[in-house]
Amino acid sequence: MFTLRPVWGEDFLDREELLQELVGTLSSPRERMGFALVGPRRMGKTSLFLETVRRLREFPAVVPVYLSLWELVEGTPEELSRELLGAVLDAFREQGQLPLRVRARHLLQAPLELLRELLREVRLSLRLREELEVVLMLSRGRGEVPPGELLSRSLAFPDKLAGECGVRCALFLDEFPSILELRRGGKPLGEGVVRKLRSEYERAENLVLSISGSVRGTMEAVALRPAAAFWRQFIVREVGPLPRDAVEELLRRNLGRPISAGALSLLWEFTQGIPFYVQFVGRELSRRGEQAVTEGEVEQAVEEFLREEGGILFQEQWQRLSAKERKVLQAMAKGHATPSDIAREAVEPPNTVSQYLRYLAEKELVIRVGPGRWRIADQVFARWLRDRLE
Ligand SMILES: Nc1ncnc2c1ncn2[C@@H]1O[C@H](COP(=O)(O)OP(=O)(O)O)[C@@H](O)[C@H]1O
Ligand SMILES: [Mg+2]
Repeated sequence: MFTLRPVWGEDFLDREELLQELVGTLSSPRERMGFALVGPRRMGKTSLFLETVRRLREFPAVVPVYLSLWELVEGTPEELSRELLGAVLDAFREQGQLPLRVRARHLLQAPLELLRELLREVRLSLRLREELEVVLMLSRGRGEVPPGELLSRSLAFPDKLAGECGVRCALFLDEFPSILELRRGGKPLGEGVVRKLRSEYERAENLVLSISGSVRGTMEAVALRPAAAFWRQFIVREVGPLPRDAVEELLRRNLGRPISAGALSLLWEFTQGIPFYVQFVGRELSRRGEQAVTEGEVEQAVEEFLREEGGILFQEQWQRLSAKERKVLQAMAKGHATPSDIAREAVEPPNTVSQYLRYLAEKELVIRVGPGRWRIADQVFARWLRDRLE
């Protein structure tokens, strides 16, 4: 079945090389570095993490733990701390390392007395159990401790727990840069917290962290720039589109009907291998009968997709652009590729256009395809813009 949610197991296609690198490195006691996955939204970073987690579960000496910062609702350090402890305890429990009777994520809602009682059953050293109780208490509080301290204690816990169990904890923090948006009392915590976490992470012996991020600028701020707190702490890997044969495989498996070569090419051209688009348009097509998919039908499905989803997908990003950036993009959507052509269409001086192309490139909205030639990075976004101009 086509799906818009992250995939793993049988539904996960391609990327075998990258997966083997992730699983091989993270399961090897000799390796100490985790990964930073960088790639635009909807490219498949979460799916990659979840498939890596699935495969790592086969290794008795590794406990993989997954948490997405986008799952946070309140966006407070207390909430992150709670979610992290819950995810860690549950992962250790599922791996048979902790004999907890109930899922920790339920347990964290329980009254403290009950919680203490349940934890007494767990075979942990007194020191570690006390530490867990302290962090749990703090994570229920309303900001009695500095956020940096709360979060570094929460990160230290899985390290110590892994040490006691004689395993390694592979922690995946999806959409990690959102940590910069954590707030307490309405005020953002900012960078200091990330540095605190980094120092804690340096002390860890049994914890390997991997992170992902959808916005390059914020990934740079936390990890990819020399001045960033987590600089040089990760093996950095780009997550790009799927290759054409994987797109064909995805359609062949899930479409439930044949597809003509022309229709396939059209679909490939539209999606450019971005898995979310393939899943979405594929789903649309799978609902439309049994005959072979024609080019006209792909065209219709694409239009429907843009009508239904285009606004949701692109409007917000569009609103955040300046008037000049929009003019440049609109000219490009009409097919202009060089600064001078764009300048003529947008009625702006070529120098200004070149400057705005650089801004847009920093936001990864346009890419340079040759000397003095540019195009809109996402062809679906380009198409959405073109449709709006008509
Ligand atoms: N390897 C893959 N095989 C098939 N579909 C995929 C794959 N990776 C991602 N997808 C699909 O792409 C969409 C986005 O995936 P997701 O992992 O949520 O991306 P991201 O975390 O980068 O935003 C989902 O619809 C998912 O089902
Ligand atoms: Mg994701």
